[in-house]
Amino acid sequence: MNIDFKELANKYQTPYYVYDFNHITAQYTQLKESFRARKSLIAYAVKANSNLSVIKHLANLGAGADCVSIGEVKRALKAGVPSYKIIFSGVGKSDEEIKEALNLDILLINVESAEELNRVETISKELNKVARISIRVNPNIDPKTHPYISTGLHENKFGVDIDTAKRMYIQCKNSESLEPTGIHCHIGSQLTQLQPIKDAIKIVADLIRNLKAIKIDLSFMDVGGGLGIVYKDEVLIDTYEYTQSILDVMFGLDLTIICEPGRFIVGNSGVFVTKVLYEKVNGNKRFIIVDGAMNDLIRPALYNAYHRIEVLNDNKEFSDCNLVGPVCESGDFFAKNIELPKTNHNDLIAIYSAGAYGFTMASNYNTRGRVAEIAVENGVDRLIRKRETFEDLIALEEEFIK
Ligand code: LLP
Repeated sequence: MNIDFKELANKYQTPYYVYDFNHITAQYTQLKESFRARKSLIAYAVKANSNLSVIKHLANLGAGADCVSIGEVKRALKAGVPSYKIIFSGVGKSDEEIKEALNLDILLINVESAEELNRVETISKELNKVARISIRVNPNIDPKTHPYISTGLHENKFGVDIDTAKRMYIQCKNSESLEPTGIHCHIGSQLTQLQPIKDAIKIVADLIRNLKAIKIDLSFMDVGGGLGIVYKDEVLIDTYEYTQSILDVMFGLDLTIICEPGRFIVGNSGVFVTKVLYEKVNGNKRFIIVDGAMNDLIRPALYNAYHRIEVLNDNKEFSDCNLVGPVCESGDFFAKNIELPKTNHNDLIAIYSAGAYGFTMASNYNTRGRVAEIAVENGVDRLIRKRETFEDLIALEEEFIK
């Protein structure tokens, strides 16, 4: 990544997120290429980074979109993803969301419960439409990742067990308003082990074969997202081995493979850049206080997640400290007990691997505007989201003051 953080700070102020669009292209292309032996659709998981310019960049490369709210579906359409490449997942879709999804004629609705299937059936009947259904199977596999981002165990709220899925497919087959089209499985995020993915896909492939035996022929197998990235020193799943193991399990089955990566595509494209306000020592604990905070990048506070941190000065005098923001919470930190050099007012600090689940999880806590987002492509930078102003933050309340 060859980005001049100082120049961007002068031009756009701090804090900001910057994304390397060339990295996004490379990640997308690597994955797409590894599936080249089969019909495949890479449906980018919009939740990881839903900036319209990021989605548009991926749409231009041929990506589809995996969405978990009708808002994300509309973002994807607005950014130029064709409706026939959009998938809508999520455990709690409202009637209005189902109705809109049907009217927008997207590729698949990923259904996550028997009751939801009934709602989709009723609504598609009312609209005189046929809903293309994919059922999210919960294979009860431990993905061996952080419990907050594990989704493939029965104790997690996602999907349905195999027997329920089978009954639901039979319901689809017997319904004039439902078309059994796909099958879906996603066991968790930041996965670094291949075996749980293989085990899960094997369970799904067996179900596809069982369904075939009763004349239910599916066209799409959605293997979920979840491929991990390097934050620190993780050993990653090799993409070629990943796709190969999916193809092995699917031997003899002629389905288009859908894969829905988020973090893998954008995670290491992004850097969160913040500047030093102050240093202080409480007792013998050193703190560096910066202008970015937990409302901008919540992963350290929420998951105790590690992000590599670099102070952009030439100081060689390192010592232990906590890197914290101005928000009024002790949980407002980017790193604790970390060796960093002595800093001065206005020194810049880069927090890496922030392209996924960074800006999308940001909030306005403490009436802090969300920061600017910048794209860099082929050495050229451009603003892709303005920094929020105080006026933006009060716009929806102001008229109601009595
Ligand atoms: N498909 C489904 C159904 C998902 O639930 C997710 C992520 C993805 C695809 C994309 O997963 P990825 O390829 O990005 O791992 N906020 C957390 C991550 C939550 C992931 C939720 N689901 C974090 O910051 O680590």
